Amino acid sequence: MSATALPAGKKTTTLTLGQKKERGEKITILTAYDYPTALALDTAGVDAILVGDSLAMVVLGYENTLPVTMDEMIHHAKAVARGAKNALLIGDMPFLSYQISAAEAVANAGRFLQQGGMDAVKLEGGQERAETVAAIVRAGIPVMGHVGLTPQSVHQLGGFRAQAKTAQAARRLLQDALTLQEAGCFALVLEAIPAELAGYLTQKLQIPTIGIGAGAQTDGQVLVTHDLLGIFQRFTPKFAKQYAHLGDEMEKAFRAYVAEVQTGQFPSPQHSLLMPPEEWAALLENQP
Ligand code: KIV
Repeated sequence: MSATALPAGKKTTTLTLGQKKERGEKITILTAYDYPTALALDTAGVDAILVGDSLAMVVLGYENTLPVTMDEMIHHAKAVARGAKNALLIGDMPFLSYQISAAEAVANAGRFLQQGGMDAVKLEGGQERAETVAAIVRAGIPVMGHVGLTPQSVHQLGGFRAQAKTAQAARRLLQDALTLQEAGCFALVLEAIPAELAGYLTQKLQIPTIGIGAGAQTDGQVLVTHDLLGIFQRFTPKFAKQYAHLGDEMEKAFRAYVAEVQTGQFPSPQHSLLMPPEEWAALLENQP
C-alpha cells in the first residue's frame, strides 16, 4: 500500500464544509471502518470519512444495518480515528442508539467523540428527530442529518427503495430538511431521491447537501467504500459506481496462495529465512 505516511494537511471541520458550499466546491465523503482504509482515504484527500452503520452489511455480513451496536461502532470508529488525521470524522449512530430518548441520544453521541475519536455524528430521520438533533447540538456535538432512503427504517419503507417520487412525498421531505436545518444540523445526507428534488433542496438549504443516489446537483457526494471498490458483492445499488473490482482481485490472490502452498511454490527461498551455514553445521555436529 502506498499510503504509508500521514499527510501534513489541514484538519477539515464542519465549517470547512459550509465554506465549500459557499464557494461552489464539491464535498467528498466516503465510508471507512478500519485503520488502513482510513489512512488511504485521508491520504487521497477526502473531505470527510463516515464510519457508517453500513458496517453491519459490508463488513459484518448482516442482511441490513439494524443489528450493529454502539460498542461495535465505537470499536471501528477508534481504528478509523487512528488512521485519519485531516478528514472530518463522522460516526453514524446505530439503530436504537438515539430513538429511545434525547438523553440516551446525547450520551451515545458523546461516546462517539469521547471514546471513538469522531468529530461529529450522523443520524437518520426527518421532523420526528428535530428534538433529538437539537439536544445533541446543545451538548456541543455537530450532527449530520440523513433523509430519503433511511436504511434503519427498511421494514417501514418496505425495502431499500427510492423515496420522495411523488409531489406529496417530496413536499414532506422538503419540510423534513428545513426542520433538520433549523434544529442545527451542519449538513444533510440525501439518499435515493430524484435528482431534480435534490437540486431544489440544495438551493433551498443553507447547509451542505450530500447525495448518495440523488444526482449531481448536491453540494457533495458520499458512497459506501466497499461498493466503490467492488468488495461487497451481494448486491450493488444502481447509484453506486465501482471504481475497482477488488473483490475479484482478492479472490484471485487467495486462489493463487492456496495453489502455491499446495504445490510447494510458496514459500520460495526468497521468502525463507536461512541460518548462517557454519551455525547450521555446528548444530548438526553436536547433535546427540
Ligand atoms: O451507513 C452508511 O454508510 C451511510 C451512507 C450510505 C450515507 O449511511
